[in-house]
Amino acid sequence: MEQQKRYGHFDDQNREYVITDPQTPWPWINYLGNEDFFSLISNTAGGYSFYKDAKFRRITRYRYNNVPMDNGGRYFYIKDGDTVWNPGWKPCKTPLDFYECRHGMSYTRITGRKNGVEASVLFFVPLKKWAEVQKLTLKNESSEEKKLKLFSFEEWCLWNAATDMENFQRNFSTGEVEIEGSTIYHKTEYRERRNHYAFYHVNAPIQGFDTDRETFVGLYNEFADPQAVMEGKPRNSHAHGWSPIASHYIEVTLNPGESKDFVFLLGYIENEQDDKWESLQVINKKKAHALIAELDTTEKVDKAFAELNAYWDALLNIYNVRTGNDKLDRMVNIWNQYQCMVTFNFSRSASFFESGVGRGMGFRDSNQDLVGFVHQIPPRARQRIIDIASTQFPDGGCYHQYQPLTKRGNNDIGGGFNDDPCWLIFGTVAYIKETGDFSILDEMVPFDNQPGSEVTLFEHLKVSMDHVIKNLGPHMLPLIGRADWNDCLNLNCFSMDPNESFQTTENVTEGTKAESLMIAGLFVVTGKDYVALCKKIGKADEAERMQKAVDAMIDAVKKHGWDGEWYLRAYDFYGNKIGSNECDEAKIFIESQGWCTMAEIGAEDGMVAKSLDSCKKYLECEHGMVLNNPAFSKFIYEYGEISSYPEGYKENAGIFCHNNPWVIIGECIAGRGNDAWSHYAKILPSYVEEKYQTLHKVEPYVNCQMVAGKDAFKPGEGKNSWLTGTAAWMWYTVSEFILGIKPDYDGIRIDPCLPETATDYTVQRKFRDADYEITIHPNGQQKGVKKIVLDGQPVDGTVIPYSAGKHTVEVTM
Ligand code: BGC
Repeated sequence: MEQQKRYGHFDDQNREYVITDPQTPWPWINYLGNEDFFSLISNTAGGYSFYKDAKFRRITRYRYNNVPMDNGGRYFYIKDGDTVWNPGWKPCKTPLDFYECRHGMSYTRITGRKNGVEASVLFFVPLKKWAEVQKLTLKNESSEEKKLKLFSFEEWCLWNAATDMENFQRNFSTGEVEIEGSTIYHKTEYRERRNHYAFYHVNAPIQGFDTDRETFVGLYNEFADPQAVMEGKPRNSHAHGWSPIASHYIEVTLNPGESKDFVFLLGYIENEQDDKWESLQVINKKKAHALIAELDTTEKVDKAFAELNAYWDALLNIYNVRTGNDKLDRMVNIWNQYQCMVTFNFSRSASFFESGVGRGMGFRDSNQDLVGFVHQIPPRARQRIIDIASTQFPDGGCYHQYQPLTKRGNNDIGGGFNDDPCWLIFGTVAYIKETGDFSILDEMVPFDNQPGSEVTLFEHLKVSMDHVIKNLGPHMLPLIGRADWNDCLNLNCFSMDPNESFQTTENVTEGTKAESLMIAGLFVVTGKDYVALCKKIGKADEAERMQKAVDAMIDAVKKHGWDGEWYLRAYDFYGNKIGSNECDEAKIFIESQGWCTMAEIGAEDGMVAKSLDSCKKYLECEHGMVLNNPAFSKFIYEYGEISSYPEGYKENAGIFCHNNPWVIIGECIAGRGNDAWSHYAKILPSYVEEKYQTLHKVEPYVNCQMVAGKDAFKPGEGKNSWLTGTAAWMWYTVSEFILGIKPDYDGIRIDPCLPETATDYTVQRKFRDADYEITIHPNGQQKGVKKIVLDGQPVDGTVIPYSAGKHTVEVTM
């Protein structure tokens, strides 16, 4: 194999990924912000900011799919004599003497050096603040005095990112700004219904500014050569309509060895409707002044940064492993958990593959995301469960997505994805097991956000289960609806109109026989959880009722869902098999293998082992397991979107990293540690990073949704990084099933499944008010705990009973 170029490396000590070449194969991004104010930032400082909702409250503008790629962001132009350069290389692309980008936990530091000047910018969003800090440090490393001209740059978005991109007949006339000292305010539409504005401030006197893009850049120039910068002369322009921007101009003199800090602040403010104005057309700036005052010195900023780091120390101390394998430890202890927080925050809304205008929070996506995050900040997971359940319908169906700002179901997409309801059980059970907080089940939660419709959350779980049972097909398997987890398996769609969305179109439903084996397995797994929960809270009748339904589903799968060597995937509208040896293409699919093996359906008859073997035989390749095999080579009208993709991409035989863990968990439950590990390591970013930075293309520190499969033109090429259920599933798999530390109602269940080569390891696990140090001695075993000693006393069974305080646990396999 050809040696692949490397663009960076991990720095585990600092929990950073260090990029040493700005021309990465694709922008390698990071996320700033933890709760309300967020930014995306690439390794060349591209990206944008928004408040809560990337669609409805976009603060700065970004153009996706641009040429060149990743244009627009927050830029500092440094004019040193005739040379103009940026610390992050772009947009001027002036060759730098040194470049480095360090992506850390909710911060990014970009450093460039040119002609004896070093410019280092630390970007972060302080905790609980609605602002992005950009601390720029300029240092003269030469032996001569330097006279520099510094220009900052941000471009405002006119708030709604969707209309900002299309409603030009209006937009070009609405832009408004105010300038006060070193602060530029963006107040478009504030005169009417909006009660919010943004500002861009620097904590130093400025010698000029610009707020009108055309004046600053020049109509025939680009970000790479704005006229004002090239001439070294700000225009002091005041934007009226067109495209408002914010640029400060500062003249900086630095003696040899001298350095200076500048704190730039991009802030967002909301005022009460009746307190919007200071005087006619002058916005009320009190809150802006207060926010600026909190972050206007290097000391205050450094303190805020220390707080952010302490916050991450605490979060990452909740689950920490020492195995001696750096590649595993860094993913478990740092990057996988970090990605889980990011996916929890953004669902599938804003990344360099998700435009931020298309999708909000997904019902199924967010339930899965919270399983990767619940150990970090349980109260936020709790709130999320309530928000999600509030978008459910009384019959247990639900909106497929909702908007984070309004928390209302998204009518554009609607409902009808029949797997959705089950995920609510998955998320809620994970929350209760982590926290022991059963009170969440008594929370009163509305349907479709309608006041007066409130029932307990437990009732929501019940209607979720019932929704499956009430929608069974001819084989007593779950009807699929628009699609199940696989959004692209659209068995009731029948669309030949390219302007129709496969996922929201159901042209024929009457008499459908389209059933899903994926939902069947999911129902059995979550059904067992539901039954256990009912027993736990004293609802014996309900437990019994649902156990019967689960048993019936198991029977149905054994009878109608088995193909001889693997589980079928589905039945189509007409009742024909999908994912069967009888099919010409796509004979086997991963989703039903994953869920039915996790559910252990037919394990006693060897079905589980056969299914797992078939995954190895037909789905596995060098880069992971593909979704189906062989790939579809032609469009199949009755299957919908799945067969619309070229071979090896996305849902047509791509390696959908999201569902590899399902099979890995199946392997773990079956006790096949060697196989589980080998599947896991194939899609573990740190292993991929070592081998394939160029081929893989996307960020090597996080999982991506899809890696091109073995049938693709370029197997191994990654796409759709960051926002994917893969994060939570990788976490769930490694933390609970491989390393074997599983929260349970009454304590922690210890049940690792390891490769034979595993050596002793220790997990530090904070759990409710306890702190466990758990050392596992695998002794060459793949599975099976022989002995557990808790604080010197042997424990019966595999659950260490919960009690507050510090504990040491020794586990022998
Ligand atoms: C969606 C998931 C879906 C998956 C497979 C992702 O893009 O966010 O909800 O399960 O694709 O189709």
